[in-house]
Amino acid sequence: MSTSSLVSIADISRDEIHDLIERARYFEQHPNHKVLDGKVVATLFFEPSTRTRLSFETAVNRLGGRVIGFSDAGTTSTSKGETLKDTIKMVSNYVDLIIMRHYLEGAARYATEVTDTPIINAGDGANQHPSQTMLDLYSISKTQGTLENLTITMVGDLKYGRTVHSLLMAMRYFKPKFIFVACQELQMPKEYLDFCRENNLEYELHSDFSEDVINRTDILYMTRVQRERFTDIMEYEKVKNLYTLHNDMLANAKPNLRVLHPLPRVNEIDRDVDDNPKAYYFDQARNGLFARQAIICKALGIDIYKADKDEQ
Ligand code: CP
Repeated sequence: MSTSSLVSIADISRDEIHDLIERARYFEQHPNHKVLDGKVVATLFFEPSTRTRLSFETAVNRLGGRVIGFSDAGTTSTSKGETLKDTIKMVSNYVDLIIMRHYLEGAARYATEVTDTPIINAGDGANQHPSQTMLDLYSISKTQGTLENLTITMVGDLKYGRTVHSLLMAMRYFKPKFIFVACQELQMPKEYLDFCRENNLEYELHSDFSEDVINRTDILYMTRVQRERFTDIMEYEKVKNLYTLHNDMLANAKPNLRVLHPLPRVNEIDRDVDDNPKAYYFDQARNGLFARQAIICKALGIDIYKADKDEQ
């Protein structure tokens, strides 16, 4: 496995998180810094995406590299029965870095076992979404001025939502308090509650999305119910609209509270929240470009600060 791969947020140290945030800050100031001249990056998306794929591809383009790949595996030889192993080995012949999203948990880890080309996990089933976590951390750092001692309320689909799983694990270094708001069927899985206990992370479990909870919150992290992970559509219908944030629910929120959502949203955030200064989800998606530029350069071992000096 290439040590430059980013498969799970669990593989990243506290110092690496701070370093990636600083690099994201750098790219926000210098988005067109051409450090990928001659590099080719593959984006292999076996599942749908808007933000993750387009922001990764924009990141490569702005850095001066080239992108190949697919957004619909149905148009590739996967549809003829080619295995994931063979696909990864083939694409490795052509590129310097592979960014992949797959519906199977563990697919990105498996890919690192069949190639030396660095792999970035752009989401594997309900498991992990580490590049989303880096942009979430960058967004939290920008809006709160710190990652430390924050109350983070996660609402919605905490069972299948890979973004909340990754974020929870990343926050282990920063003494957060978590409030998990979900119906019984979609509450945070036991393995992540065990993770909290093992890492001395405080948490509360709620089924009511109350103003008392909102008013104690610094980061309100809303999530979509992951329809694509349900095997029984009737189960989805029962839980799909249980939690919606409306603007009036933020009336007594802390001044520093920001509403985050990995997007896409369905009905979790009413449109009347969009103009509230506490709504941060579109800025959050924009931060994804800079966080992903930082992740790509780290994976390729590019010293952006040295490259900056060489250019001067
Ligand atoms: N947040 C996120 O992963 O969005 P996409 O599914 O559009 O990439």
